[in-house]
This record gives sequence, C-alpha cells and structure tokens, in this order.
Amino acid sequence: EKGGYDYFMLKEIAEQPQAVADTLLGRLTETGEIMLDEVRLSDQDLRDVDKVFIVACGTAYHSGLVAKYAIEHWTRIPCEVELASEFRYRDPVLDRSTLVVAISQSGETMDTLMALRHAKEQKARVLAICNTNGSTIPRESDAVLYTHGGPEIAVASTKAFLTQLVACYLIGLHLAQVRGVKYADEVAAVVAQLQEVPDKLRTVLGAMEPVRELARELSTAGTVLFIGRHVGYPVALEGALKLKELAYMHAEGFAAGELKHGPIALIDQGTPVICVVPSPAGRSVLRDKIVSNIQEVRARGARTIVIAEEGDEAVLPFADHVIYVPRTPTLLAPLVTSVPLQVFACAVADARGHDVDQPRNLAKSVTVE
Ligand code: F6R
Repeated sequence: EKGGYDYFMLKEIAEQPQAVADTLLGRLTETGEIMLDEVRLSDQDLRDVDKVFIVACGTAYHSGLVAKYAIEHWTRIPCEVELASEFRYRDPVLDRSTLVVAISQSGETMDTLMALRHAKEQKARVLAICNTNGSTIPRESDAVLYTHGGPEIAVASTKAFLTQLVACYLIGLHLAQVRGVKYADEVAAVVAQLQEVPDKLRTVLGAMEPVRELARELSTAGTVLFIGRHVGYPVALEGALKLKELAYMHAEGFAAGELKHGPIALIDQGTPVICVVPSPAGRSVLRDKIVSNIQEVRARGARTIVIAEEGDEAVLPFADHVIYVPRTPTLLAPLVTSVPLQVFACAVADARGHDVDQPRNLAKSVTVE
C-alpha cells in the first residue's frame, strides 16, 4: 500500500506532481479562464467582497500565508491570514462583504470549524478549501473548492500543502478575473505558469539525493534555522514545522529581515541556516536583501544551505550548500521551494530513527480545540 516506499510520506511527496495536476484539472479553460464550479457564490457576491480572511492551522495556515501575497497582488482586496485557534477569540470585524476562506486537509479540524462557525454567525461568506469530500468544514461552508490530492495518510502534510497552494492561487485568480482588475494579462500568464508546475516538480524530485545526504549529515545538529522573505517566509515556517514534528529537533523559521532584531543572536559556529532565495528575475530588491541576510549569518559562523533557482550563481560565494530548483515566478515559487524542505525533514527524521508517518504526540486530524 506504500507503493514500494518506506513511508507513506515518501509516497505522498512523490505524488505531488500528479496531485497538483489533478487539482488544476478541469478548472482552467483553454483560453486561460478559471472555472470553479463547486464555488456556489455568484460573481456578484465575489464582486462585493471587500476583505478576505484566511483561517487555518499548522501547514494549512502556512499555505494561507502564501495566498495572502498572491490574493492581494492580483485582486487588490485586503487579505488577512489568521490562526483558526485565535480568530474567534479576538472579535474580528466581519460582515456580509467579508470572504472567509477556511483551509483544511481533513475538513474536521475543530479550531478551523469553530472559526468558520463564528464567521457565519457574523454573516460572512465562507469558502472552504478541503481535501476530504463531504467532511464537516465543506458541509458547513457556503462554497467549497476541493483539492484533488487524494488521501493523505502520513501525519505530516505534504501533497495537501501543495494542493492547498494551488487552490488558493485559483481562488485569487478567479477573484481577479471576476472583478476585472488591471492584472488581467498577468492572470492569463499565471494560468500558463501554473500548468508547468507538475513538470517542474518532477525535476525537483529527481534531484533530491544531495538533500538526503545533507540531512543525514545534519541529523545531529542542535537547532536548524530557516529564513525567507516575501513568499519565502511562509516556506521557511513550513520547513521548520516539518522538521520539528518529524525529527523532534529545535527548528525555527524567520522572516530574514527580522534576524537583526533578535534571532541572529542564536547563530553560532556551524548553526545550519536554510535560506529560501527568490528568483533573480523577479523582485530584485527582495533578492538583494536576502543575499545580504545570508552574508550576515555566514559572517557569524552559520553553515548556509541555500535554495535558489537554477542558474543563479550569485549566491555561490555565500552558500556552503546550494539546492537548485527550476525557475518559477516569485508568487508560485513555494510550490517548488517547499519540496526540498519536506524531503530534508523526512530524511533527518529517518536518520534519527523516528517513525516518519506517525510522529509522537500527533494525530492526523485534530478534532479537539
Ligand atoms: C503538519 C500538519 C498539521 C495540519 C493541521 C491542520 O504537517 O499536518 O499542521 O496542517 O493540523 O490540519 P487540517 O488541514 O486537516 O485542518
């Protein structure tokens, strides 16, 4: 049933190109339009939206953090992302023109369900992104966009994360189209770029042996830090979460710009720092800044592991190790940059002798608040 893999997690990591393709399937027309049949909100409802809240937990929350960058950029609608467990306790400002997007693989996470119920009581429209047909969260929502990732057995989320990202991008692009914002051309381009992601993922997955080797080498480290900027920041958070839950190691993700405000003091001789670097093509200011952050940590003794785009040689002088991924537009980059971090966490946990599919103290679906 593990299809020849040692763990379900490895099988699910390998299934990601297909999971992404399946989540895109039938939702894009040949002319680049987005069709979301299962979204039972009228175009008028969507035009009326003046604020988006994304609520989710754990890995699903990280997909929401990425979505914020894309949704705000494409639609110009303010978007906030909130931990579901915090949302309803702080009396958020919600009304009929608020769209609340609840992201959940299982569809049964109690924190997310309670956040959704709170949103509905306040008359907000609720759209679920979910991987489990007929589960509670989509049942209680006004609309649902299913991720077609197939069943995820391993406790740690991998293919669900990637398909959640795809669903978020689709919703962002759909909102942009319906509202007819100035980014229409960009939307068509992004649709084409999304279609290329499954092949890029195959390329990434085919080049993971050095990552596994590095994982074995670093499996005795006391702490591993992850840094990123822009959409690379949630990727850093997700990389750290995976390592914590699977390898039981101290790991933390930071927005690279925050290092100098405190966390840089953690860096000691040999501390591994995994740096998620954006495309040299896209936002060059962003890139220059993170390259200087990498220099800063290296000057303080860090061992730098840099995830960069193929052909990016400018990072070489500052990297102890480089992991190359195919060129991908900045906003979509988490679809490829998060994969080496999944493989890394899985291999570190395995090297430490842990059951990768069943980490201690964790359950696949968390049905208590
Ligand atoms: C981490 C992980 C968890 C879940 C979280 C939400 O690998 O799997 O953080 O992402 O418990 O679960 P769902 O998506 O089922 O609501």
